[in-house]
Amino acid sequence: MKKSFGIIIVLTAMLLATESQKGVESLSGGTRALLADEMRHIEKGMHGIFSNIVKGEYDQIAKTATDIHDSFIFAKSLTDAQRTELKANLPQGFIELDRSFHAAAGQLSEAAEFEDKNEIEQNFAQMMGLCVKCHSTYATQRFDTFSE
Ligand code: HEC
Repeated sequence: MKKSFGIIIVLTAMLLATESQKGVESLSGGTRALLADEMRHIEKGMHGIFSNIVKGEYDQIAKTATDIHDSFIFAKSLTDAQRTELKANLPQGFIELDRSFHAAAGQLSEAAEFEDKNEIEQNFAQMMGLCVKCHSTYATQRFDTFSE
């Protein structure tokens, strides 16, 4: 029993080590630059949405949220090779956070169409939480305060 427990620990450690070798650091320069571009694009979008929320500009919120939902790293600007590279290099956890982030952007767009103030606030907060969650897990080289 003790022995098999030890084996499980070793296997888990090996899995974790493989997972941590993957990540944005292992992407090619071009693909990593595209990711950074996309990040700056969504940051700008989030700033805009913040202003739209406080002013009740629902049409604009829906437009920007849809834009964020449709674009991001699986954007049309990626070549097939880059898409394959991203899938091969980014850990499963990253892909899942990316998916949740996109789902939240879709929900925000929908909430804006319904002019639902509470839902809009909740979805926006959820998206912001996912920025921080992903950065503090997968972008600690770029944002090194998260590495402590
Ligand atoms: C699924 C993961 C993930 C999510 C979600 C995410 N990011 Fe990022 N972001 C990253 C990674 C990884 C980097 C670092 C890229 C690197 O080091 O090359 C990054 C870098 C950035 C940068 C720096 C780009 C540059 O100029 O180098 C900005 C700005 C940014 N993100 C904004 C955001 C905002 C705003 C959100 C939420 C609305 C967000 N990100 C959500 C993964 C994510």
